[in-house]
Amino acid sequence: MNLRAEIDSAREYFDAILKPAIHGRVSCVRRIVPSHWHFWVFMILLVTSMQEARSQAGGSNTFADLKPVLTQRCVMCHSGNAAPLGLRLDNYESVLKGSTRGPVVEAGDPVGSELIRRLKGISQPRMPMTGPPFLSDSEIALFERWVTAGLPKGSVAQDSPPAKPAILRPAAGETVTYLHVAPILATRCAKCHAEKGLMGAAPEGYRLTSYDSTLSTADRVRVVPGKPDASELVRRIRGHALPRMPFDGPPYLSDDDIRLIEDWVAQGARDANGKVAPNPAGASVRLHGTLRSGWRLDELELAIGAHTRIDKSPRPGDYVEVRGRLDETGNVKVGRLRRR
Ligand code: HEC
Ligand code: HEC
Repeated sequence: MNLRAEIDSAREYFDAILKPAIHGRVSCVRRIVPSHWHFWVFMILLVTSMQEARSQAGGSNTFADLKPVLTQRCVMCHSGNAAPLGLRLDNYESVLKGSTRGPVVEAGDPVGSELIRRLKGISQPRMPMTGPPFLSDSEIALFERWVTAGLPKGSVAQDSPPAKPAILRPAAGETVTYLHVAPILATRCAKCHAEKGLMGAAPEGYRLTSYDSTLSTADRVRVVPGKPDASELVRRIRGHALPRMPFDGPPYLSDDDIRLIEDWVAQGARDANGKVAPNPAGASVRLHGTLRSGWRLDELELAIGAHTRIDKSPRPGDYVEVRGRLDETGNVKVGRLRRR
């Protein structure tokens, strides 16, 4: 800003604010003050420092700077009517409004701001709920500086529509990858199936917060690549295995979402890069469903043999639990079949 403009803006400031404040004797003030150069130097310094403060606030500490992180890591859950605790993080006004428990940010007080406490894990469950990984130190510092700076908005595109969670749909014929199903798992499942979820520890120790945890073979597998019918995850969202998931349903998943997850499993439960999941041959499974004639569990053919122990004389039509191991081709070699 050049000197001319600074003098102009100081003059505007004088005309708009100081002048009306001075009652009467205006002509006298006008005659004396503008000719007094000390006054103008003071005004220029004042306006310049105000502008500096504003540009600092508009530099790297505004809501606009946080928006990309929020969109990538938070909005998938914290948006729309089902936002946890009513906390929407998809626009400035909602973030300031906070949750049903009250504000989550206090201007100038990062230590007392619940949002910062959640990012650092001082309050539990730590956010984002899909972590680990949580935010990096420098990302968290960005949020802290924003709170310290007094929650400036910055230049967020005014007219852009509110951000929607990015539910990607594969085009017809395109293979389904983890990128397509992750938003469903994050919004509908991860609030419980996380390290410290709504119900405490993840139910059955099963975390749906990352690709690796979803596919984990550590105790037993719930996703059998290529075999939706042998995947307890698919059986649960269909309601073949009970209790049906999500546990807090209805509403359960839409038919489209269920089909998308079935297709993902059928096509090899590919990771975000499209790579087919490793074959979990030898891993154990535990499945639930209705026994059908010919030793089928709903649609799934079971490998029953001398290795199978059958309890409580289950008959077709009975709800049963199946425990077994996967062979090389993903067939379920049943160790135990029990009426429930
Ligand atoms: C997978 C879904 C999910 C994601 C992703 C997620 N959250 Fe949450 N968040 C929740 C749930 C569920 C709760 C309620 C947990 C509780 O406190 O009982 C919650 C609670 C919160 C709270 C506490 C509100 C209050 O008033 O106590 C804050 C703050 C918060 N989240 C911020 C974030 C931020 C910031 C991000 C991104 C960095 C994020 N969350 C990502 C699901 C999520
Ligand atoms: C409100 C909490 C909650 C939500 C949300 C939720 N679950 Fe569950 N989930 C549970 C509980 C509790 C169990 C244990 C139920 C039982 O079998 O008695 C469970 C069990 C499961 C199991 C069985 C795990 C095993 O080892 O056999 C699978 C698979 C599963 N959930 C998948 C999902 C999926 C997929 C979603 C989202 C579409 C989901 N859950 C949403 C609470 C939840």
